[in-house]
Amino acid sequence: MSIEAVKSEPIHQPLLQLSDISKCFGGVTALNAVSLEIHRGTVHGLIGPNGAGKTTLFNVMTGLYQADKGDIHFAGKSLGRKVSPQTLARAGIARTFQNIRLFANMTALENVMVGQHCQTRTGLIGAILATPAARREEMAIRQEALRLLAYVGLETNAAQRLARNMSYGDQRRLEIARALALKPAVLALDEPAAGMNPSETAQLKQLIRRLHGDGMTIVLIEHDVGLMMQLCDRISVLDFGQKIAEGTPEEIRQHPEVIRAYLGSSDAAGKL
Ligand SMILES: Nc1ncnc2c1ncn2[C@@H]1O[C@H](COP(=O)(O)OP(=O)(O)O)[C@@H](O)[C@H]1O
Ligand SMILES: [Mg+2]
Repeated sequence: MSIEAVKSEPIHQPLLQLSDISKCFGGVTALNAVSLEIHRGTVHGLIGPNGAGKTTLFNVMTGLYQADKGDIHFAGKSLGRKVSPQTLARAGIARTFQNIRLFANMTALENVMVGQHCQTRTGLIGAILATPAARREEMAIRQEALRLLAYVGLETNAAQRLARNMSYGDQRRLEIARALALKPAVLALDEPAAGMNPSETAQLKQLIRRLHGDGMTIVLIEHDVGLMMQLCDRISVLDFGQKIAEGTPEEIRQHPEVIRAYLGSSDAAGKL
């Protein structure tokens, strides 16, 4: 998908549209005809109890799993049901994982540079021969990786640290920097605050606000409902593989079925 194609899309058309997505694992229906419209420049939240199907939806959205039924449209164009991760990454969807998946024995800088290497023009032969064009490209990639590390709030001296030696919060931010290296149109974050302490969570909140301010379209899975209420423009609620509600944070807060499904009792309304 070219930038021009994305820019010329009609204003009300969703950037990413999932239609009637179903996915079963053996006898388990992880997703049952779920439809979702993600609009450009919004933070769209996905909440629901454990096992509701949130990560499975991300896996379908990023091509890791293929849906049994349904269709994915990106910027108005059908990508069909059987989409590869490469197609979706090229279309502009990047993600982070609920269980961090960094290259543990590489430095922070290298982790981000790998993200960009997927997009180089000079290719492997150029890199091996260290042609001037390849060297220039390598320098540019390095500069961009350093910029992205700074953008997510990792200081310069973090660049040379091995990913496995970094704190949990820093590893999560590094994953976001690596996803941003793909220059995505949509950034999908699967529980980015999981395992973070309160100050790391506060920093993450600032980072997501900054990305939003810079026009990024974000799909966010997070258990911290308070955080979701503060960050999201719209929230969709999954329960047992079905979408049971969708709306603004305020609408979701008051939705009886959400209160019942997500928190187990109507007494729980105050917690939402
Ligand atoms: N690869 C898989 N193989 C078998 N079952 C799976 C797989 N991935 C997810 N599931 C099942 O699908 C359901 C939804 O899981 P998941 O999408 O991870 O939920 P959530 O992210 O909302 O906690 C669960 O019952 C889970 O056990
Ligand atoms: Mg999950």
